[in-house]
Formats: sequence, structure tokens, C-alpha cells
Amino acid sequence: MSRHTPSMSVMVAAARKAARGLQRDFGEVENLQVSMKGPANFVTAADKKAEKVIFQELSKARPGYGFLMEEGGVVEGADKSHRWIIDPLDGTTNFLHGIPMFSISIGLEREGQIVAGLVYNPISDEMFIAEKGQGAFLNDRRIRVAVRRELAQAVVGTGIPHIGRPGHQRFSAELGAVMNEVAGVRRMGSAALDLAWVAAGRLDAYWEANLAAWDVAAGIILVREAGGFVTDLNGRDAMLDTGGILAGNEALHRQLGDVLKKAHKPA
Ligand code: IPD
Ligand code: CA
Ligand code: CA
Repeated sequence: MSRHTPSMSVMVAAARKAARGLQRDFGEVENLQVSMKGPANFVTAADKKAEKVIFQELSKARPGYGFLMEEGGVVEGADKSHRWIIDPLDGTTNFLHGIPMFSISIGLEREGQIVAGLVYNPISDEMFIAEKGQGAFLNDRRIRVAVRRELAQAVVGTGIPHIGRPGHQRFSAELGAVMNEVAGVRRMGSAALDLAWVAAGRLDAYWEANLAAWDVAAGIILVREAGGFVTDLNGRDAMLDTGGILAGNEALHRQLGDVLKKAHKPA
């Protein structure tokens, strides 16, 4: 069993409440009103509703904490040392296509450090949580990163840029290099879940470029508390700034990092 702090209980309650709306709306996905934010980048009514619910719940429980949210942007709080980082629906494209692979992601930053993270898949009812120094949990069961040490046995997650997003050439070079080395590559469609799945040992490693802080804040602490390594694509602890992510156990993190580096070296 996991021992939560009161802050984690607040996060869990907020996520469960927002999830009820997402579950309902997913059931009626065809009737959803959508607005276009950019090419292939839909923001659904469900998305906005879920964020509002999370915002209201967290504000009620922790007045004064600041927010960084995908839809609502930055909301400054009186308490400058705490900030929630929220993606109310990570995996929007899946959601709109009726693919039951998306998540709610909530991270808590204290003095600029992520101290708690939650990633919840409302369809599979899988709740991944982690707090600094407390380990990582899936529905109250302790989780750890996979122990495989050979890339040749590893299943590796990634994200593929799509129309309107940068990095197509870069990704093609990376995929070309990685697919020669690994047992399989998966594109699940929710960066937050990708990281949670690395924490749970389902994916052996994961990399992606051009992500936002709300995609990864919660997942980063999940992987670390599950015994894994997370850096940006340059091996630095600057994921929230550079948007690059490389995660896995110590051995695979290093090996995948080397393969990616080589992919960008002129032959
Ligand atoms: C997206 C997902 C996806 C990743 C994209 C993100 P959204 O978030 O995390 O897996 O590849 O880069 O933008 O738009 O579904 O919240
Ligand atoms: Ca996202
Ligand atoms: Ca989103």
C-alpha cells in the first residue's frame, strides 16, 4: 500500500472527479464539439471541462498555489513556492478517434522541484502516483522500471511528430537508428502515459522531442521513483525547458541516448 500525503489525496480526488466527465464524453465522442487550435491539434470541450474541474478542486484544497495548465496557461498564486502543472487530457488525438489511451496528468512543483505526480487513465482505471522519496505506485501496488539491460530485448516508446509540428526529419533519423537496435517501438499517443508505463516496466525506455511541461511533469517523478533515469535528449536535467525526454533504467537510458546521439552524427 502506498502512504499518501494529504496533497496526493487532493490530486487523486481532483483527477477522479475530472475523469468522470472524460469517461462520459469519451462515450459520446462523435457528438463532441471541437475547436481547432492548429493543424491536427484539437482541443475538445471535454478537455476544457476537465481542466476546469481540476483547477477548481485544487484551488479549493490549496488556495494560493500557482498553476501551469495546457488550456488556461499560467495562473499566479500568492504562494510562490508551489505550482500545479496540469494536462487535463493527454492523448487528445486518441480521445477524438475513440482510442481508449489517454490520461489526466497532474504534477506538483515545490521550489521549482517536482515533488508529486499523478497520471490517470480513466478508461482502464489505472492510477499512477509518485511522491518524492516514497516510491511509485499503480493502483496502490508498488511499481518499478523494467530490469532488461539489452536494447535488443527492449520495447521502446516514442512520440511521432505530425502535421504542423517540428522535428520530422530529426525523428526519422532517430527512428531509423533505433529500430535497428530494439525488439519493438511503440507510439501510444500520450506522453504522460508513456512515462507512467516506463515506471511500470511495460515500456523499457522512451524518448520524445518537443514536449511541453504539462506532458511530462508528473511522468518524470513516476519514472524516478520507480528507480529509472530521466533526462532531456542532451542528457541534462532540463526536460521542462528543452521539451526533450529520454527515460529508462540506467543501462537502457544510457544505451538509447548513445543510439540517438549517433543518429544525428554526419556519416
Ligand atoms: C500530446 C501527447 C502525445 C505527444 C504530443 C503531445 P496532447 O499531448 O502527449 O503523445 O506525442 O507531442 O502534444 O496534445 O494530446 O495533450
Ligand atoms: Ca499533452
Ligand atoms: Ca492535452
